[in-house]
Amino acid sequence: KNILYVASEAVPFIKTGGLADVVGSLPKYFDRKKYDVRVVLPKYSCMKQEWKDKMEYVDHFYMNINGEDQYVGILKIVLDKITFYFIDNEHYFTGFTPYGDTLWDIEKFAFFSKAALSILPVIGFRPDLIHCHDWQAGLVPVYLDNFRYGGEYYRGIHTVMTIHNLKFQGVWDRDSVQRITGLPDYYFAPDKMEAYDNANLLKGGIVFADKVTTVSETYAEEIKTPFFGEGLDGLMYARSNDLSGIVNGLDYNEYCPFMDPIIKKHYTSDTFRRNKVANKTALQEELGLVKDSKVMMIGMVSRLTDQKGFDLVDYVMDELCQDAVQIVVLGTGEVKYENMFRHFAWKYPEKVSANIFYSEEMSHKIYASADAFLMPSLFEPCGLSQLMSLRYGTVPIVRETGGLKDTVEAYNEYEKTGTGFSFANYNAHEMLHTIRYAERIFYDKKRDWNKIVERGMERDFSWKNSAKQYDMLYKNLLG
Ligand code: ADP
Ligand code: GLC
Repeated sequence: KNILYVASEAVPFIKTGGLADVVGSLPKYFDRKKYDVRVVLPKYSCMKQEWKDKMEYVDHFYMNINGEDQYVGILKIVLDKITFYFIDNEHYFTGFTPYGDTLWDIEKFAFFSKAALSILPVIGFRPDLIHCHDWQAGLVPVYLDNFRYGGEYYRGIHTVMTIHNLKFQGVWDRDSVQRITGLPDYYFAPDKMEAYDNANLLKGGIVFADKVTTVSETYAEEIKTPFFGEGLDGLMYARSNDLSGIVNGLDYNEYCPFMDPIIKKHYTSDTFRRNKVANKTALQEELGLVKDSKVMMIGMVSRLTDQKGFDLVDYVMDELCQDAVQIVVLGTGEVKYENMFRHFAWKYPEKVSANIFYSEEMSHKIYASADAFLMPSLFEPCGLSQLMSLRYGTVPIVRETGGLKDTVEAYNEYEKTGTGFSFANYNAHEMLHTIRYAERIFYDKKRDWNKIVERGMERDFSWKNSAKQYDMLYKNLLG
């Protein structure tokens, strides 16, 4: 059977967050004899030249969007035996980042979604199922519904819509979206794409897809409630029968403490006690922190947005910096958080290192070096950073929400179980108490701490289990 993934990012070509990790790695983990999984992405001008050079021209044609005929170029790369197609159009996919101004993004991804369907007869790949990711691909099930009227070719193709983050929906006024998409009135009703008088692209995807998934079981439940539902909780509830949560896996070859070419010293769950620390002292040296193998290093690697709980960090950072800890941050995003971390790094130069940029390399070093990883998210559909931390023997300290709740088991000192530390309420001092509890175990009960690390490293968050669940979902649809 043929399966097509439609998404706005995928590693190693372009990445702004966990979506790219998922779309770039999951296709590799299916039985190739069963499914031919291919991926469609935009060809952004901000992609690395190395990838642009490898793209092979397939074909091109013109397609109407926003009342004009637009060039649709098709390029491709085969990587690890997976075919990636790239939609080429220099009018839309320019700029230094994949995303930007909202209205422009809506037109850009309307073009992308329509093009992703329109290239199919041209590339000679007719999918039995299209798996759409996030709002950028939300129009795919809508256009597919519309295209059915145009002929046989598009009939009977199944669709899955995966929500990686319900916060982003692609919303603009109906008239503009109708003009851009060229879709008939029929689609702009409250039981279809319309929501709160606007057009909502993700809603369109959710309404028209055969099945809807999100990236953890807890988040699948949470989004049926007003707090997490971002205005669509009623719809999520209404689609309960077709909605499921499948937790993300991790590409265990990419993230692997005993093979990772980036890190200074390799280790396993048997050797981390001796070897992991060499990574920490190397990073301390590189970042100009006090070189101290014994101090507890807390890492954070994240998009700097309110989703990730940085308001809590801001609130208690001065208190936390009185403790025997070092804090290493890597991230970019909202200016207020970037400046907040720069400020604390200036105030506590020996303890805090603020790395306000994007770097794969630095992220691996932090996962391998830190003792603990802080992720106090306000909400978290799944989260991959805590999985990377577990894999690298870095103990996660998380808030119990979404995928964090499903993947980090809280330490229980009486039963000697658990892989991390967690707290329930979005409260800065609750977080601080939890961090301090972790500090006590780290400094006073090293054996117990090491056991936590070991249990975490031995948990399996590879794609093996989760790919099986997607397989089941596809099988249910495809018969
Ligand atoms: P989200 O998708 O909400 O950003 P995830 O935890 O699912 O959160 O995924 C985040 C991914 O982005 C991880 O792979 C993380 O290592 C990576 N990442 C985030 N910020 C940076 C950065 N500044 N440099 C390198 N990698 C980063
Ligand atoms: C989103 C979510 C994150 C999830 C990722 C991949 O960016 O914020 O929690 O891990 O998508 O599914």
